[in-house]
Amino acid sequence: MLEWASRLKKLPPYLFAELDEKKEKKLAEGVDVIDMGVGDPDMPTPSPIIEAMKKALEKPEHHRYPTYNGMKSFREAVARWYKKRFNVELDPETEVVALIGSKEGIAHLPLAFIEEGDVVLVPDPGYPVYHSATVLAGGEPYHFPLREETGFLPDVEAIPEDILKKAKIMFLNYPNNPTSACATKETFEKLVKLAKEYKFIIAHDAAYSEIYYEDPPISILEVPEAKDVAIEFHSLSKTFNMTGWRIGMAVGNSEILKGLLKVKTNIDSGVFQAVQEAAIFALDNQPEIENIRNTYKRRIDIFVSRLKKAGINVNPPKATFYVWFKVPEGYTSMEFANTALEKAGVLLTPGIGFGKYGEGFVRAALCMPDERIEEAANRLAGL
Ligand code: MLT
Repeated sequence: MLEWASRLKKLPPYLFAELDEKKEKKLAEGVDVIDMGVGDPDMPTPSPIIEAMKKALEKPEHHRYPTYNGMKSFREAVARWYKKRFNVELDPETEVVALIGSKEGIAHLPLAFIEEGDVVLVPDPGYPVYHSATVLAGGEPYHFPLREETGFLPDVEAIPEDILKKAKIMFLNYPNNPTSACATKETFEKLVKLAKEYKFIIAHDAAYSEIYYEDPPISILEVPEAKDVAIEFHSLSKTFNMTGWRIGMAVGNSEILKGLLKVKTNIDSGVFQAVQEAAIFALDNQPEIENIRNTYKRRIDIFVSRLKKAGINVNPPKATFYVWFKVPEGYTSMEFANTALEKAGVLLTPGIGFGKYGEGFVRAALCMPDERIEEAANRLAGL
């Protein structure tokens, strides 16, 4: 039996790979499983983006190695979008890097800045990659709680001073996965000030910034001086139903991006240029975005109203396609998720999978047609 490296042994199994296994087992038993586990949009990529890709595929210049930091035209499109959407100026030469999806950038960032034993501040509950990327780089994740009482925003006063002094990176994620909370400008201002004081990097994951139903979520780079300490990760995956295409970007502080890019040049060879061309089209034209938002909004209404009627305490999210709700009295999150799968054939993600402060909650991803959402809610209501 081959021995795994100790850094790999320290990692838990990837949450969504584990859920996949559970689902496969149930499917093999003949259960009609409704998978509300991973947040993978079910709607197709808007056809104008596919058309742009088809045209790009015919261009032989795209069949060779792409540039490491992304095509100039892609970086310019990102800067145009940031200006239009957030009123943030970005220099496409130094302040934008193309990514093979935001997960890739998040996973590689700690390798550039973390020495053995350095502390990385990780939101809990949170996307599992912040923790794993820290461990792979030899760092020590410090999980700071996102509590319901504080609107799932970081309670920075609760982070001990000696931890802040040792911190090199703080991961943030708003709109938040899994809680769906949105950050206010005041929260970001406070965090930027803290990062400047204690000299750590802020890595803000904004993958869900375009999936909103109330005021458009803000970019951390809208805060004055944020660019001194912060980078922001974006993805086209959720915005344009492009999870399989693998395209995202990191923007912001040029020195941080330089470090990330040095890691990337040594590990990967960039994003297929035809995909970047399709992404330029998507960023410039925002095809079907309203339709996508309306679809999620409708699904949320169906799911939440049905569960509420059944007496389950659940609030509609202001952003993301996740519904994060408390498990009924007497269950742990894992017990409730297991019961939902065993008795109702509904796959939910247990809150504990996102960290210890996720205990007591489950997450439902609404990536399926209305009828299935209704069916899932009915089955859960009958538990
Ligand atoms: C999730 O379900 O949390 C996400 O879809 C995972 C991802 O984006 O990689």
